Amino acid sequence: MNVRSGMASLLLFTTASVSQALEYASQGLAAPGGATSVHQFDENAFSLPSANMSVMRKLDFSVGNSFFRNPWVAAPASTGARDGLGPLFNTNTCQGCHVKDGRGHAPTGPEDNAVSLLIRLSVPPKTEQEHALIKQSGVIEEPVYGGQLQDFAIPSVAAEGRISVTWTETPVALAGGESASLRTPVFTIEDLQYGPLAEDVMLSPRVAPPMIGLGLLEAIKASDILAHEDVQDANQDGISGKANYVWDQQAGRLTLGRFGWKAGQPSLMQQNAGAFNGDLGITSALFTKDHCTSAQQDCLKAPNGNDKGDEGAEVSDKILRFVEFYSQNLAVPVRRQPASPEVVTGEKVFHASGCASCHQPNFVTPEIALQPEQSNQSIWPYTDLLLHDMGPALADNRPEFLADGQEWRTPPLWGIGLTKEVSGVVNLLHDGRARNVLEAILWHGGEAEATKQRIIALSKEDRAALVAFVESL
Ligand code: HEC
Ligand code: HEC
Repeated sequence: MNVRSGMASLLLFTTASVSQALEYASQGLAAPGGATSVHQFDENAFSLPSANMSVMRKLDFSVGNSFFRNPWVAAPASTGARDGLGPLFNTNTCQGCHVKDGRGHAPTGPEDNAVSLLIRLSVPPKTEQEHALIKQSGVIEEPVYGGQLQDFAIPSVAAEGRISVTWTETPVALAGGESASLRTPVFTIEDLQYGPLAEDVMLSPRVAPPMIGLGLLEAIKASDILAHEDVQDANQDGISGKANYVWDQQAGRLTLGRFGWKAGQPSLMQQNAGAFNGDLGITSALFTKDHCTSAQQDCLKAPNGNDKGDEGAEVSDKILRFVEFYSQNLAVPVRRQPASPEVVTGEKVFHASGCASCHQPNFVTPEIALQPEQSNQSIWPYTDLLLHDMGPALADNRPEFLADGQEWRTPPLWGIGLTKEVSGVVNLLHDGRARNVLEAILWHGGEAEATKQRIIALSKEDRAALVAFVESL
């Protein structure tokens, strides 16, 4: 399949005849991850290595996979390389949240424990110093509980609390006699074990995003991302798009953020090390301290899993590199039926409605040293990796570096149609509130308000076609 030749086709889509569109759809657009794309559509669709990976490198991928999938245990343990879990943690494996390398889900009700959703905690900056600090540290952590609620702990330590949610349904009328129902979550934290949370605490519930195509997103040249920035909306299309600049632990400076729902992490290495630290309670050379605050003395006193072989941290640089390689190479599946007439109509609706202003279809990656898989690929992630104001209904009201309380990073849409197969349930958006693609669209506000109104006003058939297109990605 020739993956490059679909590149110049974008503008044509709004005007091209169906036959031209069919031609493009059958070319590069059908393989969103370029030559890395895989042909698998079942529950394991997100777990395969880049299709263009050499056999030798597949061994490294498997090693990375084992550290992503297999449980970590509390220290001290006989399995020195795999101990250090906690004292406080959310779950004992990466897969526990990134279910089958796909996304997690929100709890269904007050008694359902959050297993693949976490809640970030912070308080607003009050002093000038704290305002300055937030640019480097991203947030001011909640003083007693830290930057994230950990709902599990090793036996000698109390877990911090339990996440609980209730949902309310609101009907939405759509043109053509259709209707939808949107569910709004109210998250609370029960069974707090270290006293009350700060009165002005800000909660940000987040579902684990899917792991596919991340190495390709990391490979995009910063200048290609920044080319789409329009912070002051100079072209007056109502859509701005702003880069987040976040602290790069290794470089010791601010750099372009790409990962996480608010683009709060600059690289997969740092995102992964941050996840080991924040989600599993595992220290590394990048994050040397466990998440115990001074109010959590049992946590501070608990044994750690720093062994000689681990280079003085609970997870060694070597293992981090394997996990980095793994996270760079989970492949995006090829599209399903990209040339069906309904999908082709839906693609036109997508472009004509303005979805592509944020969900940027195409980038071309440069040559990258030691990363042949990600080099020189024409990719179709449908994200600009920039922050957009999505309105008050989606707001967590919690700033993170340059992202304000209403801003979120455009998520990639590739693979989204396989969510049900892989994760068993469809929970879209940052907190998993949307149960299907249409609900996700109907939650769009702020910069995307006009786009959403166009979708509400569409005929039933065109709306269904748009959804069919998104699900073919
Ligand atoms: C408790 C659930 C949970 C666990 C366990 C977890 N993650 Fe995540 N992961 C998340 C959430 C939530 C996000 C989004 C974070 C944000 O917005 O700040 C995320 C984001 C990521 C991303 C960025 C994805 C993107 O599209 O931007 C990567 C990479 C990642 N995690 C890797 C890991 C690794 C490696 C581990 C194991 C060491 C791990 N995660 C364990 C919940 C989890
Ligand atoms: C102004 C920018 C913008 C526009 C325009 C826009 N989106 Fe989005 N989209 C986003 C952002 C940001 C999110 C994440 C919001 C959140 O999680 O709270 C998102 C989320 C989504 C999701 C859920 C993705 C996931 O991984 O959970 C889907 C599906 C989606 N958009 C489809 C569309 C479609 C279809 C259109 C056109 C009708 C559209 N979007 C228009 C910015 C935009």
